[in-house]
Amino acid sequence: ARIDYREKYRPQFHFSPRKHWMNDPNGLVFYKGEYHLFYQYYPGGNTWGPMHWGHAKSNDMVKWQHCPIALEPDELGMIFSGSVVVDWHDTSGFFNGGDGLVAIFTHSNEGVQSQSIAYSLDEGQTWTKYENNPVIPNEHIKDFRDPKVFWHDDTQNWIMVLAAGQKVMLYGSTNLKNWTFLSEFGESDGAHGGVWECPDLFSLPVNGDLLNQKWILQVDIGSGAVAGGSGAQYFVGEFDGTTFKNVNEAEKTLWLDFGKDFYATQSFSDIPIEDGRRILLAWMSNWEYANEVPTSPWRSAMTIPREVELRQTANGDLKLHQHPIHELKQLRQEKIKINNRVVNGEMNVLKDQKEEVFELIAEVENLSAEEFGFELRKSSKNKQGTIVGYNLLTNELFIDREKSGDVSFSKQFKGKHVATIEKGLNKVKFHIFVDKSSIELFFQEGEVVLTDLIFPDDDSQELAFYIKGGEVTILNL
Ligand code: FRU
Repeated sequence: ARIDYREKYRPQFHFSPRKHWMNDPNGLVFYKGEYHLFYQYYPGGNTWGPMHWGHAKSNDMVKWQHCPIALEPDELGMIFSGSVVVDWHDTSGFFNGGDGLVAIFTHSNEGVQSQSIAYSLDEGQTWTKYENNPVIPNEHIKDFRDPKVFWHDDTQNWIMVLAAGQKVMLYGSTNLKNWTFLSEFGESDGAHGGVWECPDLFSLPVNGDLLNQKWILQVDIGSGAVAGGSGAQYFVGEFDGTTFKNVNEAEKTLWLDFGKDFYATQSFSDIPIEDGRRILLAWMSNWEYANEVPTSPWRSAMTIPREVELRQTANGDLKLHQHPIHELKQLRQEKIKINNRVVNGEMNVLKDQKEEVFELIAEVENLSAEEFGFELRKSSKNKQGTIVGYNLLTNELFIDREKSGDVSFSKQFKGKHVATIEKGLNKVKFHIFVDKSSIELFFQEGEVVLTDLIFPDDDSQELAFYIKGGEVTILNL
């Protein structure tokens, strides 16, 4: 059936369910040429309700095809977040010596949470729940959920990381059915503004050096994140198959995204070694207002998929950098180009043209100004617009959505989201993705990222470059 996706605020290049409520991405996996995206889904309405796993698949993570619901609530409870792995060597015995997909998820029954599994014999289309579920019963721990599983080659073990209160717990297994507790992490590390959810654990080479790998433990927090409400933090460290050790100061918090709409992020499992990328995406919303955003008949979208890379900065810090996946380039159409232009006042970038949905890449140098940036999805007539700005006096990069359009549906929505960046830059690069109801900002080489929802009027389509107190040169745009 042809689906128009022309409703007000409907994302044009971000995954959204055709209708009804969605939250976390689940079970991200690449198998037999297809990327699978499962997600927390309530097919009975447009707010959070008894959780199912919705399903979509894609050849390129850009164009998605909707699939039937994968998992439905049962007598053990609702189906909360989790992951999917390819069981290549039939360690589970579900595949008669072949290979197949196994889902590991949380059953939530009146607040009591346990871990269960299901398998698919037809490449993810239909699923059978394991008859001896749960595989990890509740251990008298409130908030015991969101298992992410991966194969650890060195110890020939499946490793599960899951959220338990305000820490993570690690379990090991040889067959995905019997799990042994290994260790826990986080009681005294990182941010503790709220419950920990949706962890992930994977290794990455430092500056591309395959012989120097570090482990990333990413954990989201339900409230008290950098921009308020829910958000994503990560740790860099060592993992020996049993224990994760943080190599940074315990109190230091590293944020994956400084905007307000990046949550429950998960990375794809089983991307082939020849490809070598670690790709993640997140739910583009915030629990402070997710149930109130003004969209219908669906609620929520995912971020664009992003490749993560671990880089050691000049001062020795190890930091994740994020890059939009190259597959997105296929969506590019006509270009507007500006080169070597000195700007000392407001400039309308689009002239007579108007745009609602676009990608913007700009390098700016000779930074002798107090502040500059872009006004996106602007309407001079309605005094509407979202500011992506860089303040050289405070060294702050920000998205200001005070006047971005509809901000009335929740008191928590309005505002300005800020990342502090290093002093003394003389050349900066902005890479911005603007969709009907979102902005994703990648600064420099993805060193700092901000993701924010916006709900502008349809006809807010001007794009301006603004500057305060001086001049800069747009090297290219
Ligand atoms: C995160 C979360 C998870 C849970 C799911 C329930 O957004 O709260 O911890 O599994 O959503 O829908």
